[in-house]
Amino acid sequence: PTEKAWVVSYIHQYQGFWHPTRQLLGVLTCQQHFQAQDSDILLVTNPKSGTTWLKALVFALMNRSRYIDSPQQHPFLTTNPHELVPFLELKLYAENQVPDLANFTSPRLFSTHLPFVSLPTSVKDSACKLVYLCRNPKDTFVSLWHFTNKLRPKDKGTNSLEEAFDKFCRGVCLYGPFWDHVLGYWEASLENPERILFLKFEEMKEQPALHLKRLAEFLGCPFSPEEETKGMVDDILKLCSFEYLSNLDVNKNGKMPSGEEYKTFFRRGEVGDWINHLTKEMTERMDEITQDKFHGSGLKF
Ligand code: A3P
Repeated sequence: PTEKAWVVSYIHQYQGFWHPTRQLLGVLTCQQHFQAQDSDILLVTNPKSGTTWLKALVFALMNRSRYIDSPQQHPFLTTNPHELVPFLELKLYAENQVPDLANFTSPRLFSTHLPFVSLPTSVKDSACKLVYLCRNPKDTFVSLWHFTNKLRPKDKGTNSLEEAFDKFCRGVCLYGPFWDHVLGYWEASLENPERILFLKFEEMKEQPALHLKRLAEFLGCPFSPEEETKGMVDDILKLCSFEYLSNLDVNKNGKMPSGEEYKTFFRRGEVGDWINHLTKEMTERMDEITQDKFHGSGLKF
């Protein structure tokens, strides 16, 4: 099936999820050609669930010993996290290209918005690790609405919040239905907790140090007592914080090769902004869908 979308002209349903025309080719190419290695780390999110933050955290974590004595050379100062941890289907395999990944050092860090059912077979068959970060649907929707408005050509004006909301609730949005995306990884993480770590944006905001340490343990590089004494956990959290990253020159003024400005990935970075956008009716509709979809799964927001 095909539907009119908000930014791009059309999105298409493939394996139960919606993809823009231009990106579908990347999905297919990635499914066909990406060869996962056991040591790979794949960061997975629904769009606007905190991808940029997760990319920063995992990159900083995995490279922490390299820059400890030379923080002024940290790649974040010159490069946005989306370039350091590239998307498979949106960047590396975008359009019809098959990249040469020989330059990536192990462990290779990649990211994807692909739903669990659409992951390349090699990812499912290998022992590579997946980190899934989700966010409550109301904030995810609001963030997505703002993001798509920023990407819209200026002469096209703003998307109607009501229309976008209705589409999101019907699942017709980038990588939607949101709930099925989350459930796919939730269930997979329960079946395979050594391979898939399931994180929530809200919990990370509330106890960032705890979850950063969880992340480090899951990825096989726990913080040593010496690192903890030196304050490395807090250093990484500061380095990856919304305040720090969003104020870096590169993120204020830089652009992706595809044209999106890096600053569009930073808006407020908070929990609960939905309250400023959604009516009582909208809130009730979204809560009902969430309750319905997650009923019996053990998953709550
Ligand atoms: P808001 O629009 O609610 O502010 P993604 O990275 O998946 O595109 O998600 C973008 C959302 O994450 C935006 O949410 C953005 O502000 C927030 N974000 C970006 N960097 C962040 C960081 N370092 N810490 C917390 N939130 C961050």
